[in-house]
Amino acid sequence: VTAEKAGFDHFMMKEIYDQPKAYRDTIGSRISEDGSRVVLDEIGMTADEIRRIRNIHIVACGTAYHAGLVGKSVIEKLVRIPVEADVASEYRYRAPIITPETLVIVVSQSGETADTLAALREAKRSGARVLAITNVVGSSVSREADDVLVTWAGPEIAVASTKAYTTQLMAFYLLGLYLAQTLETLEQAEIVRTLAAMQSLPEQVESILARSEEIKAYAEKIASHEHLFFIGRGLDYAVALEGSLKLKEISYIHSEAYPAGELKHGTLALIEEGVPVIALGLQTELIEKTVSNIKEVTARGGEVLGIAYEGDNELAKSVDRTFSIPRTLDLLSPALTVIPLQLLSYYASLARGNDVDKPRNLAKSVTVE
Ligand code: G6P
Repeated sequence: VTAEKAGFDHFMMKEIYDQPKAYRDTIGSRISEDGSRVVLDEIGMTADEIRRIRNIHIVACGTAYHAGLVGKSVIEKLVRIPVEADVASEYRYRAPIITPETLVIVVSQSGETADTLAALREAKRSGARVLAITNVVGSSVSREADDVLVTWAGPEIAVASTKAYTTQLMAFYLLGLYLAQTLETLEQAEIVRTLAAMQSLPEQVESILARSEEIKAYAEKIASHEHLFFIGRGLDYAVALEGSLKLKEISYIHSEAYPAGELKHGTLALIEEGVPVIALGLQTELIEKTVSNIKEVTARGGEVLGIAYEGDNELAKSVDRTFSIPRTLDLLSPALTVIPLQLLSYYASLARGNDVDKPRNLAKSVTVE
């Protein structure tokens, strides 16, 4: 069993450390050798079919849904096609407006989640083209979708998803750039710059993992708390949702992710002396706004851990402590910021004596609706 875990105590930790390789494998040969374009031969849609897409629906459950929220921002930013992201169990029953010009993207690590599969079938019945992002070749979702983009994360055993999420992000970056190059919505130089930045991500993840002790110390500090908040704006908010879910799943600490600007409309009432708040500030244009929200928290005694780019002194001086992230494009930052949040939930779970790989009440794959 230790061999399967490659010397780690738990599958989750092994899978967190698998991520640099999983990023490389998922990018694989999907970037042309000269680094100028995305090659997605597995997508059967012709350029004409892509030009006919009027709107996109992303449908998934749990962590895959959180990857979908990042995917929504990425595609809207790169391609300017309207994208909605829905939880699969909600999507089916809200009579979504699906037309033959709708592209439905289902995201599922296992490819067997009942709600996601049902949403896929509903979308196909309504005449939409369905693209699946999945980690399991031959899964039900992969068999029934029109197009399949495989995440090459390798088997994920721990219930708490880590490398499946981050490789789903890679799939969305590739897909967004692919649509952008086909529809010519992005300057060629911008495509090249983004692809180069993507190729630096695995090494940057390695450099974050080398500093896991910093997160361990913080996790041990917050492990005795019962409530915790994550705040962020834009893509940082999407990552905050995933960080919060991860923490709840395995440490059983109650946490909430909040759009930083929305805190003052209610949830700020819960901030008192010593309440831990994790603030993500990687969206350059929004950092100043997030800093003012951090001040609302610290003024009430909340203790803030800031997640910021290396050298971002503005955010660093507004918080109690900082964990720094190597510089990347803001669009790609979720692929780095989620790493310390995964480590935080792992170490907090460990400090509380929980079964990290098999949290109570949860299953790896949910095949009931
Ligand atoms: C379960 C797992 C989650 C996962 C979700 C969706 O609830 O515990 O970690 O995100 O299902 O799974 P899928 O295989 O569809 O990505």
